[in-house]
Amino acid sequence: MPETHISIHDLNVYYSGNHALKNISVEIPRKQITAIIGPSGCGKSTMLKCMNRLIDLTDGVRYTGKIQIDNEDIFDKKTDLIDIRKKLGLLAQKPTPLPMSIYENVAYGPRIHGMKKKSILDEKVQKCLITAGLWDEVKDRLDSPASRLSIGQQQRLCLARGLAVEPEIILCDEPTSALDPVSSQHIEEQLLKLRDDYTIVIVTHNIHQAIRLADYVIHLYLGEMVEHGPADEVFENPKDERTRAYINGTFLADVKIDKVINTKGNQCPYNFVYAKQALHDMKTGETLKIIVDDPTAVTEVPRGMEADGHEVLNVKQTNKTDWEIVIKKKK
Ligand SMILES: Nc1ncnc2c1ncn2[C@@H]1O[C@H](COP(=O)(O)OP(=O)(O)OP(=O)(O)O)[C@@H](O)[C@H]1O
Ligand SMILES: [Mg+2]
Repeated sequence: MPETHISIHDLNVYYSGNHALKNISVEIPRKQITAIIGPSGCGKSTMLKCMNRLIDLTDGVRYTGKIQIDNEDIFDKKTDLIDIRKKLGLLAQKPTPLPMSIYENVAYGPRIHGMKKKSILDEKVQKCLITAGLWDEVKDRLDSPASRLSIGQQQRLCLARGLAVEPEIILCDEPTSALDPVSSQHIEEQLLKLRDDYTIVIVTHNIHQAIRLADYVIHLYLGEMVEHGPADEVFENPKDERTRAYINGTFLADVKIDKVINTKGNQCPYNFVYAKQALHDMKTGETLKIIVDDPTAVTEVPRGMEADGHEVLNVKQTNKTDWEIVIKKKK
């Protein structure tokens, strides 16, 4: 395992009477993507909020245990909270651009931290927008309000804004759940690139996203960490029955297939369009199996289907070239 960046010892969190996190001990490696997965209410967001101490803003919360970032105890009274927060960027579920221009959104943080010179700020803004994968789309309208950007662009702007204060760690709480498939893909691509330089912790309820992104996985269940390990081990051979059930529930559901379409030989997005047409003629609750052989379609078709509100039950490679994707029509 690579070097530890965030070390959590025996973390317990109580909201009034509710024991939300129970004896969590885990090491989060540096410059890797760690995904926190698990059903709603299991404590994923709570765990992130402990890492940047946003948890302190919650009324009636109590926590015990220890979190060390770079060997510094972040719960220690002597630790400077501003220093800690500066190390951690946060990408929330819904983009939250500041009510100012695109440029100012990114320049805001560095300016607060004392960067005044225009030429240096310009360079900083450009660099962060490039890293967030947004520069080409906004370079000619840096002075226009951030609110005019699409939701997906706003999310990348928030990523750029976070990067501008030079964090070491990026915490993401379901960063793509409000986004369309193309914007989700953009964010995922940026996160994969950022892994070279940052430690990333991403909360996702989307197991397909976890598979696409994660190097390490933490599975929380009712406040307990029931599994932790390298992503390929956890997904291929989970040790805990509850993890197996969670993954199987998403993947290997033994379902009756109502319709099969073969889109082999077609490239994405055509397979997606054919699948959409097929679903359109089906009833809610029916299942469609799509066979694809285009590697892009393996991730894009499920992502698009989820964005359309359908449920992806299974994505499975059946031979060297072919994949099956099983979709349940939801609306
Ligand atoms: N401010 C709060 N006050 C009281 N209880 C809370 C508060 N925030 C969270 N909880 C409770 O703590 C538990 C864990 O919540 P948390 O938000 O961490 O879950 P989660 O895994 O992020 O869920 P989701 O997938 O729905 O976002 C839940 O039972 C939740 O109801
Ligand atoms: Mg949450």
